[in-house]
Amino acid sequence: MSKPKFINELSIPAVAAPMFLISGPELVIECCKNGIVGTFPALNQRTSEGFEEWLIQIKSELDEFEKETGKKAAPFGVNLIVHNTNPRVQADLMLCVKHKVPIIITSLGAVSQLVDAVHSYGGLVFHDVIKKRHAEKAAEAGVDGLILVAAGAGGHGGTLNPIPFISEVKKFFNKTILLSGCISNGRDIASAKQMGADLAYMGTRFINTKESKADDEYKEMIINSKAEDIVYTAAVSGVNANFLRPSLESMGITEEMWGNSKKIDFGSELDAAKAEAKAWKTIWSAGQGVTTIENDLSVKDLAESLKEEFISSINEQKNLLDTYN
Ligand SMILES: Cc1cc2nc3c(=O)[nH]c(=O)nc-3n(C[C@H](O)[C@H](O)[C@H](O)COP(=O)(O)O)c2cc1C
Repeated sequence: MSKPKFINELSIPAVAAPMFLISGPELVIECCKNGIVGTFPALNQRTSEGFEEWLIQIKSELDEFEKETGKKAAPFGVNLIVHNTNPRVQADLMLCVKHKVPIIITSLGAVSQLVDAVHSYGGLVFHDVIKKRHAEKAAEAGVDGLILVAAGAGGHGGTLNPIPFISEVKKFFNKTILLSGCISNGRDIASAKQMGADLAYMGTRFINTKESKADDEYKEMIINSKAEDIVYTAAVSGVNANFLRPSLESMGITEEMWGNSKKIDFGSELDAAKAEAKAWKTIWSAGQGVTTIENDLSVKDLAESLKEEFISSINEQKNLLDTYN
């Protein structure tokens, strides 16, 4: 099965993953200009009208960049939550079709009608999974790529180790594989390729960029945290996700509460979407990859260092041939 052509045209095989309340047009545009796929969740804009404004802004700034520099920008992507708790999904999908969004990232539901709608204009659908069974269902729905969200990933991380997860999925899926979870530097990207992924899918590393919407204290907490400071709990959103321990503690969510499968009530006056936004605004999510994040860089500088580390790591691997071949 041939893989999408754009993968070989990127400066490094990486996607800056969509992050609730963190990714917006500035981050997406800078990633795409620097040869990395930039993405954002449609729900980061409060309304579908606002979402369309972002689409127009991203497309026009990238068009201008291509005209001015003669360089090709990386494609961008939009994350749609396909679930009955998201009343906007149809309207937002129609806007993606209207503006021919190159990559649609679906979470929760993998629906063949959605895949058909995106294929109608030549777009690609990549679907997020944490289990083999979900991967099989998405493959049946005809998605073009599977995002394997492994243990330790920021947001709603999975529980599987990436090595067996990739092996299992590759047995029945020969299209694009994206690996998600704890990929924070160029060496990690090289490791993902070595394991058989086509693209590294990176979230937490991009929180600590000048173009992200994260507060400075959030970035500081990431710099000061290690893998063991990440807590996997359902207490915040009713579904397991990874959060920074000091931010849980500062909101009074103590260790005894981490095992709660029932989510904390953030105020009965709030509707579900507002309560979720309030939770993620005050309790910060990150993956175990915080352990190697030591700075807050512009996307341009980050892209350069990722590339350097990626190349030197691949070169080290090449040296293994002298030893073992
Ligand atoms: C703060 C935060 C918010 C996230 N929000 C979303 C989201 O809205 N939709 C989604 O599909 N994934 C979301 N994710 C998951 C990322 O897209 C990605 O799978 C994950 O961050 C990769 O793992 P890493 O953070 O260890 O690199 C979020 C992750 C973080 C850290």
